[in-house]
Amino acid sequence: MQPDALDELFPSHLEAIGAATAGALAACGYDALILHSGGLRAVDFDDYPYPFKAHAAFKLWAPLADNPDCFVLVQPGRRPRLLFNRPDDYWHKPSPLPDSWWTGAFDIEPVTDRAAARAAIPNPGRAAFIGDATGFGDWGFAAVNPAPLLTRLDYARARKTAYEIACLRAANRLGARAHTAAAHAFESGESEYGIALAYMASITVREQELPYNPIIALNSGGAVLHYQVLERRPPAEHRSMLIDAGATFACYGSDITRTYSRSDPDFAALVGRMDEVQLALCAGVRAGVDWRDLHLTAHRLIAELLHDSGLITLDAEAAVDTGLSSVFLPHGLGHLLGLQVHDVGGTLASREGGEIARPPGHPNLRLTRVLEEGYVVTMEPGLYFIDSLLAGAKAGSHARHIDWARVAQFAPFGGIRIEDDLAVTASGCENLTREAFRTLS
Ligand code: GLY
Ligand code: MN
Ligand code: MN
Repeated sequence: MQPDALDELFPSHLEAIGAATAGALAACGYDALILHSGGLRAVDFDDYPYPFKAHAAFKLWAPLADNPDCFVLVQPGRRPRLLFNRPDDYWHKPSPLPDSWWTGAFDIEPVTDRAAARAAIPNPGRAAFIGDATGFGDWGFAAVNPAPLLTRLDYARARKTAYEIACLRAANRLGARAHTAAAHAFESGESEYGIALAYMASITVREQELPYNPIIALNSGGAVLHYQVLERRPPAEHRSMLIDAGATFACYGSDITRTYSRSDPDFAALVGRMDEVQLALCAGVRAGVDWRDLHLTAHRLIAELLHDSGLITLDAEAAVDTGLSSVFLPHGLGHLLGLQVHDVGGTLASREGGEIARPPGHPNLRLTRVLEEGYVVTMEPGLYFIDSLLAGAKAGSHARHIDWARVAQFAPFGGIRIEDDLAVTASGCENLTREAFRTLS
C-alpha cells in the first residue's frame, strides 16, 4: 500500500465520518465534538506509565497511535483542527509535527500542555467531549461521553470507508508476512517465545505496537482461547501450533489465526476439514445476511465434522440443539474489526441504540447485526479440546454422545481455529487475509 493511494482515499473518508458526526451532533444537540487521544496513566505508587493506547474515536480522524493529550476538534462545516501535543520535556523525545497523507486535511496547531489545549478550544459549553474523562471535569464541556452520541458514532463505525478497508488490507499484508515467519520458526523447533520474536522481527514491531498480544500456543495450549503464556523453552515435541496474531497499519489492526500440524496425519486431516468449513462459511458472507444465522450454520457444519471424524455420535442437528457443539466451540463465529480488534457496536439494533439479542445458548457471540456493504468482520470457526468443558460434558447428559477415546487422541493438539478478515460487499466479500497470503507467495 503506497501512501499516495491513501492520499486519494483519505478526503472521502473524512467527508463520510464528517457527515456521520454532523448528523449525530445535530440529533444530540451539540455544535462541536472534541476527541481526546488519551492520557498517560501512571502505575499506582510509581512514576512510570502504562503503555499508551490512543482512543479509537480519536484515531478514526487522526491516525496517531503514540501521542497522548492530542485533541481533534470537529465543528461541522469547518476544517477539522488537530491540537498536537509537543510537551517541553527533556525526559522524553517529543514527536515531530505529523506530516503524512492525512495531515493536509487538518489545521494542525502545536500545544505544549493541557492548559494550552484548553485555551485553544472555543465554546466548550456547546461541545461534547469523547475520551478518558479524568482531569476534564472543570473544562466546561456540555457533556462528557454522552451515551446517545457515542451510540450513534459507534453504530456508524461498522460501515468502513474505502480508506479504512485499504488500511485493513495493508494490516493483513503485514500480518500474513509475520504469520509466514512464525510458521517457519515453528517448523524449525522454536519455543513459543522464539516464535513470537520471529513474528515481530519480520515486520519490525514490538509487542505494544500489535493490535493485541499474540496468542502463540504449542500443543495442548491451543485449547486455551486467549492463551497468554509465551513459554521460553521449546517443548519436548512440537505437535501443533495455534497462532492468533495481527498487525497494525495506520491504527487499523488485522486479526488472523492459523493452526498447524507438525506430523500427525489425523490432526492434519482435521485441520484440513476445518479449513473447508471456514471457506464454506466465508462463501456465505454478503450484504443482507444475519450474522446470527451464519453462526448457527457454523455450529451445524462443525457438528457434522465432529460426527464424521468420530468425535461425537449425535447427528449434527441434535448436537447443535442440545448444546453439544458448544462443548467444542464455545466462542462466537466472529466480530466487527477495525480500529479496535473487537470493534464497537456489534449488537446495536439501530443508531438510536437497543440490542439485537444473541441466539439462546450462545452468550459469547459479539456480532448480531445484519451485514451491510462496508462492514469488516472476522470469520473464525474453532474446534477445541478444553479440559473444563469436556469434564462438564462427561458429568452430564452429553457423556454418552462423545467418543472419549477419540477425544483423548486429539487433546494433546489443543484445538483448531482458522480466522480471516472479510470486507463485505453487495454480492459477497473480499477475503483480505487469504488475498494477503496469496500475494506473498
Ligand atoms: N484475537 C482475538 C479474537 O480473535 O477475537
Ligand atoms: Mn483472533
Ligand atoms: Mn477475532
